[in-house]
Formats: sequence, C-alpha cells, structure tokens
Amino acid sequence: MRIRRLPDSLVNKIAAGEVVERPASAAKELVENALDAGASAITVDLRDGGAALIRVTDDGIGMTADELPLALERHATSKLPTDADLDAIATLGFRGEALAAIAAVSRFTVTSRARDAADGLRLGGEGGTIAQRLGVPAEPGTVVEVRDLFFNTPARLKFLKSPTTELGATLRALTQLALAHPQVQLRVAHNGRASLTAPAATVLRERAAAVWGWPITQRLLEVDRTEHGLRVHGLASPPDVTRGGRDDIVVIVNGRPVRDPVLLQAALAAYRPLVARDRFPLLVVAIDMPPADVDANVHPTKAWVRFRHPRLVQEMLVAALRETLSTPDVAPTTVAVPGAGFSTGAAREGADAASSAAEQHALFAETPAAYATGRFGRVLGQVQDTFIVATTDDEVFFLDQHVVHERVLFERLESELAAGAPPSQALLFPETVDLPPAAQALLERWRPTLERLGFEFASRDDAAVVISAVPAVLKGDEPRRLLEAAVDELGGPKPEAPAMERALAFVACRGAIKANTPLAREEMERLVADLGRTRTPYFCPHGRPIVSRVSMLDIRRELKRNW
Ligand SMILES: Nc1ncnc2c1ncn2[C@@H]1O[C@H](COP(=O)(O)OP(=O)(O)OP(=O)(O)O)[C@@H](O)[C@H]1O
Ligand SMILES: [Mg+2]
Repeated sequence: MRIRRLPDSLVNKIAAGEVVERPASAAKELVENALDAGASAITVDLRDGGAALIRVTDDGIGMTADELPLALERHATSKLPTDADLDAIATLGFRGEALAAIAAVSRFTVTSRARDAADGLRLGGEGGTIAQRLGVPAEPGTVVEVRDLFFNTPARLKFLKSPTTELGATLRALTQLALAHPQVQLRVAHNGRASLTAPAATVLRERAAAVWGWPITQRLLEVDRTEHGLRVHGLASPPDVTRGGRDDIVVIVNGRPVRDPVLLQAALAAYRPLVARDRFPLLVVAIDMPPADVDANVHPTKAWVRFRHPRLVQEMLVAALRETLSTPDVAPTTVAVPGAGFSTGAAREGADAASSAAEQHALFAETPAAYATGRFGRVLGQVQDTFIVATTDDEVFFLDQHVVHERVLFERLESELAAGAPPSQALLFPETVDLPPAAQALLERWRPTLERLGFEFASRDDAAVVISAVPAVLKGDEPRRLLEAAVDELGGPKPEAPAMERALAFVACRGAIKANTPLAREEMERLVADLGRTRTPYFCPHGRPIVSRVSMLDIRRELKRNW
C-alpha cells in the first residue's frame, strides 16, 4: 500500500461532503453569506427542491473584482481578521469553506458588484474550476447561482430525496433564518412560485406572522428575560396551540438557528406538564450572549454550538418560558371585533356563554365578596353547576371547576411528594377486587409509583387484589372503582410520559370535584384563591385550558358603552 497525497480537486470534494449535505445546506450557507454581507433583501429561487437550481440574490456589500476569486477558494474569508476572532465569532460564516465547497460539487456562477464599484464581475465554472471570468453590468450586491448540485459526486446525488422532501428541508432551513433575522426581507420561490414571502419586519411578531400566519401568531406570547448577561426573548405558543411535530421550535443563538437537543429538551420541559407528550409548541426564542461564551466551530454545518455555561443557558431558557406560561395572557380569551360580532368559533361560544350568563341575572347579583381572590378577582357565582364565574374590574373569568381543582390538587401533591409523601388514608375495611392477570401485572409494574402516592395493595393468587389504603385526596372514592380506573388510565397509550407524572395527573383528576356539582360560595372562593396561587393557573395537568376570559373592554365596545 502506498500513501499518496490527494489532489486538490479530490480534497475539495471530500471537504464539500461535510459542508454541503443536501440542497438545504447549500441554500442555508448562501443565505447566511448574504446576511453577513449586510443585505436588506434576499431572494432565493429554487428549482426541483434545489437540486436543479439554487439562486440567491442579495443587496449586500458585494465583492470587488479582487475579492471575488478569493471567495471561491478554500480557507479564504473576510470574517476573521485576526486569530483571536475565532474565540468570539460574531458572523454566521467564519471558515471560508462554504462557497468553495458548493462550487466543488456544482455548476456555478457568482456575480458580484461592490457597492462603490462601477460594474460587476462574474465568475463561472463547474466542479470547483473557474472557467469563465466576465465583467458585467450588475446591481450592487451578489448573485450566486448553483446548478446541478452533486453532478460530479454520483454517490451523493443518489442520496437526494424527492424534490418535495428536499424542498421541505430547504424551506425549514430558510424559515429558521428568516425568524432569526426579521428585519431582512426574504423571498423564496420554487419552480417560479412563491413559497415563502417575508417582508422586512420591525418586530419578530410580524415576521412570525409571515411564516406561520396571523391567526396563530396572534396567540403567541412574548418571552423576554435578561439575567446573568444573557437575554432570552421571542414568542411562545400557549399550551393549547400546538403542533404534531417539532419543526416549529426554533432556537437561535446570537443570530444563528441551532439544533441543540439539550435546549430543545429544556424548552419542552418548560411546557410539561401542560402539553401532551406527542404535541409540541410553536416557539421562536433568540438567546443573546457575549460571542465569547459560545463556540460555533464544533460542527461542519455549524448547526450545533457549544456553550461555555451550558447549564445556565438551559436554566435561563426554562425560566423565561415558565415565566411566560404563567402570565394571564396564556388563557384563551374571547375577542370581540367591533362591528363584526365575534371573530372565531371559540369566541362565538364565548358570546353564547356571555348572553346566557346575562339571562341568568340573579346569579350575577353582586354580593360583597368574603375575601379577595387575587388574580381572578371576586367570585360571582356558578353557571350550570360547572363553571365558576369571577371578575376583576377588567375581565370576567369562566373557570372550569373540575380542571381548577385538578390543577390545585396536582401541584399540592407535587409539593407533598417533594417534601416526603402525600397523606395516605387506610381503609377501615380493606377491599378485595377481582382483576384479570394482565391488570394485576400492570399494577405490579406501577406499584412503586402508586405506593409513593399513598396506595397500598396486595396481589393474591386467585386473581384478586386487596386494597388497604388510598391517597387521602381519594378517600371518598369507591376503592374498587378507583383501582379499575387506575388500571384503565395507566394501561393507556402514553408510554413516554414519566410514570410519576401520569400517576399524579390520574390522582388529581380522580380527586377533583366533578362538573355538574353545585358548590357553596366558600368552596368556590377557596378554589379560585388556591388556583391563583398555583404555578400554572391556566392549564390543567392534561393541557386543558382552565379559564376563559372576556374582557370588559370588548363588552363595552360590543354594547357601545363609551366609558
Ligand atoms: N453574498 C456575499 N456578499 C458579499 N461577500 C460574500 C458573499 N458571499 C461570500 N462572500 C465573501 O466570500 C467569503 C467566503 O465565503 P464563504 O461562505 O465561503 O466563507 P465564510 O462565509 O467566510 O465562512 P463559512 O465557510 O463559515 O461560511 C466570505 O468571507 C465573504 O467575504
Ligand atoms: Mg459563508
């Protein structure tokens, strides 16, 4: 075997393999270059998912005739003036690899005109070799055209998926960049048809609306927290606005969208237990920190970063999201549109509730409140033996009594668990329950969890289980029914959720007051006050909203009362 030095052309192809995995990565690199060049408008034209053509046009600073040939060489960059700059990268690019890599595996032309140059220069070629050099009239800025990606690397070409799949990946990458840089106009067209149109935005919400549409974006909540030299800011969906996948969770570090499993998990942790395991929030959060505290030079596509203080970043993200998720805005509201009645289906229900509430005038007769109930104001009464109605000066709240109680019990049990064990109630007469072997096996599997919560039971050989104690909050429940319900609930399909959380949610739900139960005023007041003191008063442990709000401002508008 002889060792030989690889020719440059092969070296470049191999290097390109790392940087350019698929059309999406090429498009991402080109748009990042345009952003680094200070562009205010970027246009991307794609054909066949990007495999046939990616053309990125920008109005950035451009390159001079001297610079342009260098830009296509490996390890040539304008972004690291000194060695030390690698320790505090402030641009999206820094290695001087991307253009060379893309050129090595495509047919390319790059046309650029520096802002103060009279005209532009075009370089063209294929497989990394420049074959054409041409002075051309051009707008200030740069156009990079990449055709037939991987035409000279058949192995890579074979791995390309269908145009639709490649387009999906490309749009995901570009959408993330669009969210990371709201002030830059970005248009993406595929086979001549617009597929993403994002006008220059002044605030993130405008940009999010271009990407996700207004109806959803309107529901997103502001995130903003600064601490320890770190700022976490952006938009987050309330727990009742979710998706079936993670595509709309975008984490941006110093302007760079990153893929970071730990941060993703941190974000999801903030939503648990408000959101079911198989549902995901919409989220765009930018984390800004000193460039020296993050290393972007750890992954060939720069999609991963390393933090100097990873724990701090995670904790800040969770804290910022938790803060957002416990603000009153998180509760669904019925929005009245002046002159147009109510705007959405959900709002329509709100309108019905409001008018039927008005008919039940007696219920609303205001008696002096025994004591103030915090953020939900005074309790007015109960509607349909199911909803507690409360009001502050600004809003009327409809609280679902079952879910209110569920949330209160859930958090109480959680803190009792943290402090030791929730109180257990021994049964005066232990009860024998017949259970099929599969159900018994299930109970055995859950035994440690159930025992921590206050259950005590013994399995007998004759397909029976003897239950001798239950969590104190469930003491009114019939033990037999309780055990059967536990088997039903815990045997159900939610395999991913941690056992304790599921069991807690079960006990809380089971112990909570049911709908259609008349309540005394004191009971309602205590419930609402307890709810006001919970960590997340707006959603039950299963993610159901607890509260619906009607703003008095909307009511006044609707009823044309001007004061
Ligand atoms: N659209 C553009 N407008 C102006 N200059 C550009 C543009 N694209 C590339 N350049 C110049 O060409 C150089 C090389 O670009 P390239 O993408 O290969 O490397 P980089 O951005 O410096 O680093 P990285 O490989 O990490 O992307 C850049 O440093 C920049 O000076
Ligand atoms: Mg670059």
